[in-house]
Amino acid sequence: MNETIQKNLNYKKYVVDSKLQYFKPHASKIEKTFAEEISFSLNRDSKFIMPKFFYDKKGSDLFEKICSLPEYYPTRTEIDILKKLQTELPSFIDDTFRLVELGSGSSIKTRLILDIFINLQKSTEYFPIDISEILTESSEQLLLDYDSLHITGIIDTYEGGLEFIKNYDDKKNLIIFLGSSFGNFSPSDGKNFLQKINSTMKSGDLFLIGLDLVKDSKILESAYDDTQGVTAQFNLNVLSRINDELDADFDLNNFSHHSIYNKEDQRIEMYLKSLVNQSVIISKSNLSLNLEKNELIHTEHSHKYTLDQIRTLLENTGFKINHTWLDDNTHFSLTLVSKN
Ligand code: AVJ
Repeated sequence: MNETIQKNLNYKKYVVDSKLQYFKPHASKIEKTFAEEISFSLNRDSKFIMPKFFYDKKGSDLFEKICSLPEYYPTRTEIDILKKLQTELPSFIDDTFRLVELGSGSSIKTRLILDIFINLQKSTEYFPIDISEILTESSEQLLLDYDSLHITGIIDTYEGGLEFIKNYDDKKNLIIFLGSSFGNFSPSDGKNFLQKINSTMKSGDLFLIGLDLVKDSKILESAYDDTQGVTAQFNLNVLSRINDELDADFDLNNFSHHSIYNKEDQRIEMYLKSLVNQSVIISKSNLSLNLEKNELIHTEHSHKYTLDQIRTLLENTGFKINHTWLDDNTHFSLTLVSKN
């Protein structure tokens, strides 16, 4: 048995055909269940629900809808910047790179980067890393559209997947993390995450990160509180998910979407506000929850950055900046870095 296989013994390999395979950990490392996490995060004075729980099928569909709202500038702005990369990224990569994506964007954004690889290479490798098996659906769709594409999906956490790739082979990787998903991390968790990425990179590897920028509060607040109420539906949907999966009895009419820009901490803060005094049973979490009128359940932080902060953050986590791309309004950024 060779070295590569030895090191990834913790993963089971599923070969679908010559162009699609995926790896999944044998037993996922003692992760807490949804019921346990909810029991922990709601059974306390300052209540919260982690934003990763937004994305059940309905929540993922609502997020897609958010991405095309007139108020939600990040997606279309990042797409505009990615279009600029079509001519500019090729000078940073070559035939020997593969594309690794944190999160399996089924979206137009992945395709814009893939287009660059496909044009540059005879055969292109794409390694999406995603905790959700939905990864296989988006992969199959991509294979229908790109003849020279080979996909290896890794169904694991970002950290687990990056560690897997580090041990996999010596091929150079361009790792992409788009959409300002990084903005969900607290500053200290974000720093740790970047350090972790840095430590799994080889010296020739590249990392491309999309980050949302600080801007006028009005623009930010309307992006997270749209007139059609889609963001409100997205936020409230997490309660429906708890109802369905954890046998709870949240009455969605008793909650409202509440979102504000905290200028000092440079972040959008999203909450679900209890409109009445109420109690809710969450059976599978063994919880009887009492909420006061106007009490807030925190659901998301979406951090915004200045260009100076982005530079400092990346430099302090072991990176060297190769290039930063911006849109004409300086609303969003894409930064390409390598290991220092
Ligand atoms: C997926 C975390 C990048 O923060 O803009 C959009 C999520 N929440 N509208 C963001 C979100 C409400 C989004 N991220």
